[in-house]
Amino acid sequence: MSTVQTARDALTDLTPSRERILADVVAGLSRQPRQLPSTYFYDAAGSALFEQITRTPEYYPTRTELALLQRCLPAVARAVGPNVHVVELGSGSGRKTALLLAALVDPVAYTPIEISRAALLASIDRLAVALPEVEMLPVCADFTRPVTLPEPEREPARRLLFFPGSTLGNFEREQAVNLLRAMRRTMGDDGLALVGIDLDKDPVLVEAAYNDADGVTAAFTLNLLRRLNREIGSDFDLTAFRHRARYSTSALRIETDLVSQRLQEVRIGGQVFVFQAGEPIRVEYSHKYNDAVFDALLAEAGLAIAARWDTAPAYGLRLLRAV
Ligand code: AVI
Repeated sequence: MSTVQTARDALTDLTPSRERILADVVAGLSRQPRQLPSTYFYDAAGSALFEQITRTPEYYPTRTELALLQRCLPAVARAVGPNVHVVELGSGSGRKTALLLAALVDPVAYTPIEISRAALLASIDRLAVALPEVEMLPVCADFTRPVTLPEPEREPARRLLFFPGSTLGNFEREQAVNLLRAMRRTMGDDGLALVGIDLDKDPVLVEAAYNDADGVTAAFTLNLLRRLNREIGSDFDLTAFRHRARYSTSALRIETDLVSQRLQEVRIGGQVFVFQAGEPIRVEYSHKYNDAVFDALLAEAGLAIAARWDTAPAYGLRLLRAV
């Protein structure tokens, strides 16, 4: 059997059901202000659009983090040691993973936990060919919910969690602490985590990253409604909502909304939701950090910084250990 087929056969598939999505959407839209979970951005089209965002001139985080990874991975590999089981939260395209796995000394296995089945399988297919000696144990799931991790055939020395891309920033404070606590549990006492965080900087630069001139980010945001129409049978009019992303300098976060362009009704699962003209649905937060804010999150989660690397425009990688 080919390496790719073996990796695909090892897939643990916990793709969210239609009922789960519908329940989350109805709950979010019944709140004031209305919300939709940003995890549902990532269907196949959404994941492809996110990939496109990472290549826009305005979206600095991905290329900044890639350059920083290239610089610090030898030091990460020394700190982590050989024979680790790498567990990645929200693996996306796997570009950064390939760099990490290639830098580590004889990693035994790789488990990406990714909600988009298409993105997960595409990245695993590529990695299985590039790194045939690493056991691929993919899990298709929402990494914010508890997941039982597959056990590698070879006994790993420790687990290394990989959480790049400042995806932590997509969670509100309490959720972020819960996620870091869950990471702490998954790591075990002697595990480590390598986490990428976007840092607070010039608001003009940050806002531009979420309002690219070609409208890729706007298309990505609106794709959420397209996905809901297809998967839960809602009837959102995509021309009647507009993307809006603004940086709050007090909350240190991009706040992304879909703003209703007129008074309208949307039918979802037998219910009718009325949107006023100008009414926003909050669809995403992208928090930016400074040392004080990030250190406080870690302290609450029982984690501490083992090593840190920063680069311009302000972006950081942190190697975390249990306290
Ligand atoms: C995945 N995540 C870290 C991205 C971010 O920057 O918050 C998602 C994104 N949303 C709009 N552009 C990029």
